[in-house]
Amino acid sequence: MNIAVFCSGKGSNLQAIIDAKKSGIFQADIALMVCDNPDAYAVKIAEKKNIPCLVINRKDFSSKEYFEKRIISALEEKQIRLICLAGYMRLFSPEFVQKYAGRIINIHPALLPAFKGASAIEDAFDYGVRVSGVTVHFVTEDVDAGPIILQESVKIEDNDTREVFAEKIHRVEHKLYPQAIKLFIDGRLSIAGRKVEITQSRG
Ligand code: GRF
Repeated sequence: MNIAVFCSGKGSNLQAIIDAKKSGIFQADIALMVCDNPDAYAVKIAEKKNIPCLVINRKDFSSKEYFEKRIISALEEKQIRLICLAGYMRLFSPEFVQKYAGRIINIHPALLPAFKGASAIEDAFDYGVRVSGVTVHFVTEDVDAGPIILQESVKIEDNDTREVFAEKIHRVEHKLYPQAIKLFIDGRLSIAGRKVEITQSRG
């Protein structure tokens, strides 16, 4: 199965996905990396690993529709079955989400539905919660609201700084995302309304 990873920034989750594939955690080819930010470190990671990259700037397209058409043609060319959003900061159109319904997943650095949005780690820390965490979920038209595949909690200790807490979150992300990808690839996920059913492993 071919998968694509979409990034906009640092690419630490991309790196974790690459490492997980290398160590045999899941069996799929990372056949495409899509990035909407030419300066993102994720581009360097993908290039170093010889992963085909589509670096695509929204400003070069007259409309969101044409921008997404270019992405779709790359996905089709590489016969991508699963799209993994890993810090991709752009929202898809409803048409795009419908076209790939049940085949786009995202990682979010909080326990959804708490702390939706682009600054979830900081928001949770500043709110003073004792427990936050990581969510991997299917992408639907509503942002950060699709059916949840996996969640794991992360505690905030009294003397944790924002940086220490962020580090803890990222460590969990890098473990949880490959696990969710594996479940998808092994055909163990089915969406039933708001819920994701995970069938037992046959192995
Ligand atoms: C991660 O915290 C992810 O949960 C969020 O964006 C961040 C991306 O980090 N959606 P990286 O680019 O994978 O290092």
